[in-house]
Amino acid sequence: MRLRSAFLFTGLGALAFSVAAFAQGDPIQQRQEAMKAIGGSMKTLGEMAKGVKPYDGSAAEAAMGRIHESIAGFTDLFPEGTEMGGDTEASPAIWEKPEEFKADADALAAAAAAALPEVGKGLDVLRASMGSVGGACKDCHQSFRIKKN
Ligand code: HEC
Repeated sequence: MRLRSAFLFTGLGALAFSVAAFAQGDPIQQRQEAMKAIGGSMKTLGEMAKGVKPYDGSAAEAAMGRIHESIAGFTDLFPEGTEMGGDTEASPAIWEKPEEFKADADALAAAAAAALPEVGKGLDVLRASMGSVGGACKDCHQSFRIKKN
């Protein structure tokens, strides 16, 4: 927890560091791990928003922080040669329209950054933030993710 918030607030230096850390290892696995973290956080937020789980402001902030953290550097995890392999669900469109792909990632980063200082303020505010964040997931997945199975 303490480490996570330190990461959040030390700004660009920490961001560059986390991107460098991400770049090591298998990029397909790394980008799927990032999306799993984002998906898990979104699930926590969604359950709170729907009242399935009790609202907890600091847990909401932590989850939104994790989304913001995990989308940073995400688009660097698609080097040439990783179009296929593993069980990737990445669409070839990523390599055809890299600018659009980056713009969709930036849209999620911006939505999460805007929501981050808000979601701890109450259930209504959390609910109001879900649309822009969830919409950013959907926009990118529609264009750039091919769901297998
Ligand atoms: C910039 C584009 C982009 C955005 C924004 C985005 N995703 Fe994804 N997501 C992808 C791509 C591409 C994959 C497939 C990655 C792969 O398999 O190589 C993916 C995969 C996933 C997966 C499957 C991970 C796995 O392999 O098990 C989940 C879950 C997921 N995204 C959730 C989310 C949620 C929730 C949001 C919004 C909060 C979101 N994504 C926003 C592009 C995006």
